[in-house]
Amino acid sequence: MSPDTAVRPRVEGAPMTAEPVLSPDYRDQGHRFPDDFVFGSATASYQIEGGVHEDGRGPSIWDTFSHTAGTTANGDTGDVADDHYHRLDTDLDLMARYHLDAYRFSIAWPRIQPTGSGPVNRAGIDFYNRLIDGLLERGISPTCTLYHWDLPQALEDAGGWPNRDTAERFAEYAAICGEAFGDRIEQWTTLNEPWCTAHLGYGIGVHAPGRQDPLDLLRSVHTLNLAHGLGVQALRSSVQRPDAKYSITFNLQTVIPASDAPGDLEVAEKVRHVNNRLFTSPVMFGRYEPELLEITRRYTDWGFVRDGDLQAIHQPIDVLGLNWYTPAWVKQVKPFALESEGSWIPTTNIGVDDVRAVASDLPATDMSWPIEPSGLERQLLDMAAEFPGVPLVITENGCAYDDPVVGGRCHDARRVDYLTRHISAVRRAMSQGAPVVGYYVWSLMDNFEWAEGYGKRFGITHVDYETQVRTPKDSALWYSRLASTKILPPTDDID
Ligand code: FCB
Repeated sequence: MSPDTAVRPRVEGAPMTAEPVLSPDYRDQGHRFPDDFVFGSATASYQIEGGVHEDGRGPSIWDTFSHTAGTTANGDTGDVADDHYHRLDTDLDLMARYHLDAYRFSIAWPRIQPTGSGPVNRAGIDFYNRLIDGLLERGISPTCTLYHWDLPQALEDAGGWPNRDTAERFAEYAAICGEAFGDRIEQWTTLNEPWCTAHLGYGIGVHAPGRQDPLDLLRSVHTLNLAHGLGVQALRSSVQRPDAKYSITFNLQTVIPASDAPGDLEVAEKVRHVNNRLFTSPVMFGRYEPELLEITRRYTDWGFVRDGDLQAIHQPIDVLGLNWYTPAWVKQVKPFALESEGSWIPTTNIGVDDVRAVASDLPATDMSWPIEPSGLERQLLDMAAEFPGVPLVITENGCAYDDPVVGGRCHDARRVDYLTRHISAVRRAMSQGAPVVGYYVWSLMDNFEWAEGYGKRFGITHVDYETQVRTPKDSALWYSRLASTKILPPTDDID
């Protein structure tokens, strides 16, 4: 996600004057992926389920936030969303029709523990049992994320992610899920994009719970890291499947300096520290980098990190998840004030007072995210070099475009093109040695796009929110061809 943007990733700043780094074509076709390469699709509980008051589910921070005036486009909420809670079989049948190898879903913590601690809500367990069994009956592997942003409201009331107790609560919840579903889940992900939780939820306030405080941001970074480590340990001791895999998903920023000038290179490094390495270093190497501590020193001495925390965080993982949409271009500018009269001016580049995001003039999607598939190739190669021997999976990639259903068809040629170019980039990274084992398209269907509401349509399936009718888009037909053959099809292969 692009840095220094109040609303996620809107690209601000002057257009680049230098020639943009344009991708070569990237519309490869005919390339074969390994037979065991996983092609899946992804969703998240609050974005699709609806049924927010049903069967004992407790309120989450996203219920509270989306019902607060002025937080989401059109005041949209996830109350109904795709009504997936009541349309499970329809959606499972769609996945089978698309020949998906795997489905990445998230569990709504407040369905399992309505107040985030204490007794288990049986009805919540039953719902996910039906989902998991339905997947397995259709030959689709369940990939489960424990936390995709719907924190039980009661835990936010007790301090939320800045409160380290939340990590202990998360570990208890992970153990409940490990016990209930661990005989069938092949791949577990602790957290989805902790960057968004910390930066957007607590630093900038454009996501739930909508707080704006630099210290809360940094404290929540540490609690999230701890939650991951304790969560992996809890899963390993409760899951019965010896071959289960454990992972975490990051939305690492591919930071591209606007030029080779030393200042631009320097701020690019700082931006990597405050957006990427604040998670990857503790999780992958068991340390916070001195540069991160230095850049953020004006807010905290990190005294909340206790002895033993870093060992707890640094658990072996089997695969590392990447969500990727667009790169971030940055340049150095004259230092500007980060605070006015003692108050925090929200920025995602916490502590970096001499950086500016640079707008790209590349074509962009409906999110205004520039399309630059070579950035994904670069990111995968960088990860392969930084975390040698760790298999990589793209747990999200996709684009928002609004295409109508006409005569029962939805021609989303721009999405087919975007997917072709990004999956080509993945294949190119693999041929240069990046150990990528899977790709999940975001998303199985149009859904509640957080603060952007329902206006941004990421699905390969069109959803009519009035009738809840699902219509496979051309991209779904194209993707099902890819999933069933493992060969990158021509962009017009949609029947
Ligand atoms: C990612 C989120 C996902 C979706 C996509 C577009 O940051 O993980 O839920 O909103 O962006």
